[in-house]
Amino acid sequence: MKTIGFIGGGNMGAAIISRACKQFKILVCEKDKKRAAFLKRKFKVVNKDLASMVNASDVIVLAVKPQDFDGVLDQIKGAISSRQVVISIAAGITSAFIEKKLGGKVRVIRTMPNMPAQVGEGITAVAKGKYAKNTDVALARKIFNCVGTTVIVQEKMIDAVTAVSGSGPAYVFYFVECLLNAAQSLGFSKDVSKDLVMATLLGSAHLLDQQKEDVASLRAKVTSKGGTTQAAMDVLMKNKVDKIFSQALKAAQKRAKQLAE
Ligand SMILES: NC(=O)c1ccc[n+]([C@@H]2O[C@H](COP(=O)([O-])OP(=O)(O)OC[C@H]3O[C@@H](n4cnc5c(N)ncnc54)[C@H](OP(=O)(O)O)[C@@H]3O)[C@@H](O)[C@H]2O)c1
Repeated sequence: MKTIGFIGGGNMGAAIISRACKQFKILVCEKDKKRAAFLKRKFKVVNKDLASMVNASDVIVLAVKPQDFDGVLDQIKGAISSRQVVISIAAGITSAFIEKKLGGKVRVIRTMPNMPAQVGEGITAVAKGKYAKNTDVALARKIFNCVGTTVIVQEKMIDAVTAVSGSGPAYVFYFVECLLNAAQSLGFSKDVSKDLVMATLLGSAHLLDQQKEDVASLRAKVTSKGGTTQAAMDVLMKNKVDKIFSQALKAAQKRAKQLAE
């Protein structure tokens, strides 16, 4: 069984630990003492100091905020050997940056998970660094498949992944907020609005998933000519919601690129 050492056990680190702990031996180095105690109690992980954790791990997952990367990489520089794989989950930190900071031909895998990982339904994009092996990619997929599904991408596409699925849950939450407010403005209570909107969201998502039918043709099936849905769709199309989404995703991709500079 591979040993995976997590540096940082916050929101995303803990989401991965909570499910990966069934398949891997997990070690954690977490700065926040209360958080460390919680992880030990809840997932039976072993808390360690940074040096001994890195030494005892086959895989080191960097799960701190991007602004903490510099400090962490400085501390583990020289401690990573060729038998180990370093996996980053941070937005905007390139594998080249990690390799350079760690000072050698380090096997780095860069990933971009997303928030539904917390319920085991995330999607994680996995990109291979310059010195990583195909077996490292396979191992990374095995780890992140514990919290959903995975796709392999070239690292140059990671900023686009961040724009689509990394930030994606926020777009969906915003869409739900808009529908909830609109439902209330038609006269429903908050609770009834929530029942109507949530069932519509989840039911439509399951239908889309199970029918394997093209999304546009499913939409056409709800939209009879001259009917109620058509009246609503006319408003959305007149206001060019598709263009707004395209602009929003481009803005997120641009910001991810800026953060990586
Ligand atoms: N959350 C998401 O949905 C999501 C999605 C995709 C990618 N990510 C990436 O995941 C990474 C972590 O995000 P998060 O939301 O999980 O952040 P978080 O909740 O703040 O977790 C980071 C944890 O690491 C701890 N920490 C900081 N420096 C440390 C050090 N030197 N040694 C050990 N522990 C240290 C922090 O403790 P303190 O709080 O005491 O500093 C905190 O508990 C980020 O790089 C982010 O880009 C997150």
